[in-house]
Amino acid sequence: MPKKTEVNLTDLLFSLSQAMEIAHANLSNHQLRTAYIVWKMGVCAGLSVERLERMFVAASLHDIGAFSIEEKLHIHDFEMHNPASHCDRGALLFMQVPWLAPMATIVKHHHRTWYKCDAPLDAENVFESQMLLLADMLERRINRSRYILHQNQDIINHIYSLSGTAIHHDVVDIFTQISGSEEFWLDLTSPNILEILKKNGPFRHVSIEREKVFAISEIFRIIIDFRSPMTATHSCGVSSCAAVLGRLFGLTVRECQTLELAGNLHDLGKLVISDSILCKPGRLTTEEYAIMRQHTYVTYSVLSSVRGFEQITEYAAFHHEQLNGSGYPFHLLDTELGTGARIIAVADVFTALNEDRPYRGRMPQAELVETLQGFVSRNHLDALIVAMLMDNYDLVRKEMLEKQSIILNYYHEQFKLIE
Ligand SMILES: [Fe+2]
Ligand SMILES: [Fe+2]
Ligand SMILES: [Fe+2]
Repeated sequence: MPKKTEVNLTDLLFSLSQAMEIAHANLSNHQLRTAYIVWKMGVCAGLSVERLERMFVAASLHDIGAFSIEEKLHIHDFEMHNPASHCDRGALLFMQVPWLAPMATIVKHHHRTWYKCDAPLDAENVFESQMLLLADMLERRINRSRYILHQNQDIINHIYSLSGTAIHHDVVDIFTQISGSEEFWLDLTSPNILEILKKNGPFRHVSIEREKVFAISEIFRIIIDFRSPMTATHSCGVSSCAAVLGRLFGLTVRECQTLELAGNLHDLGKLVISDSILCKPGRLTTEEYAIMRQHTYVTYSVLSSVRGFEQITEYAAFHHEQLNGSGYPFHLLDTELGTGARIIAVADVFTALNEDRPYRGRMPQAELVETLQGFVSRNHLDALIVAMLMDNYDLVRKEMLEKQSIILNYYHEQFKLIE
């Protein structure tokens, strides 16, 4: 990729937002629809371009702290007794990315009702979090199997009933000003909401630097992996192992960074797999395995819609392809699999075999070497890359374990405790 990475930030933001919600029809586009509402309200309130943009970005990722489909459905369907956990986690993730950090408190308080708020409406991000609270409540109130103009009056009445208690009356007043137009409701529920936001929304950034992309990939690595202690360090392991292999292979620093980034995102498609399968304490049944096999397809479909992510998509999404064409989901052949994709495939197997599973322990070196050689002899994995890994076994493993131990500590300190 060129030095000033031409990754389209709007594409990336929208794709990742959608990726969190494609698993379930009731969830799909919840965050983007919420972002649409805060955008319309923000314009009506006369917010500055910067505040509008910040609120919009926060809204489009506001439930990032809910890691599993089960948790997302729970927070979607109920008025929670304790929504704090996904709000706190979300804020923590926002704090990790410098350009998202100023929005962390909007996310942290997106379920804080007005009567529980001890700050004035004009304090930093209070107005924004109140707008997001209203938008989120409104969006979750929509019955997706009913035509919107047959239910919007009931929704409006519900929001009015919260004025002065759950939501500040000034915020409800802003909503009143936009809720009378059919266009608002039809846009909000349009199947083309993504195009509407891309074309007219407040966030239309064209390119960002590689460091920013990497920082975003780091928080997505967390939401992919931190759903269970079993997988907490998997993508970090793949990312580290792939970068070392790239270096040993003589790839450029830039290509190694791309491998690292692709390692972080390679299992992105697992966001659509439910906990009952992903965290199952045992071997998967044939049916469960078939469900699991869609994850690389989803990784591909999410990443390939980001302009500037062409190479990362290939590296990340082809990690279960095999050189003899027997991999999934594309059944690519060796002639179609480049070095980057081959490295990630080896790194994925190596990392997985080094991890404990409920049905088997971490594989000892001799058995691991034999297993990898078996993959080579069946023409699944690249012989040269596996040989290079064998020659540098201790180095690759040491770097991988070091990174994984840092991440595991972080998981225990910051995430496992927020229940
Ligand atoms: Fe939420
Ligand atoms: Fe939400
Ligand atoms: Fe995978």
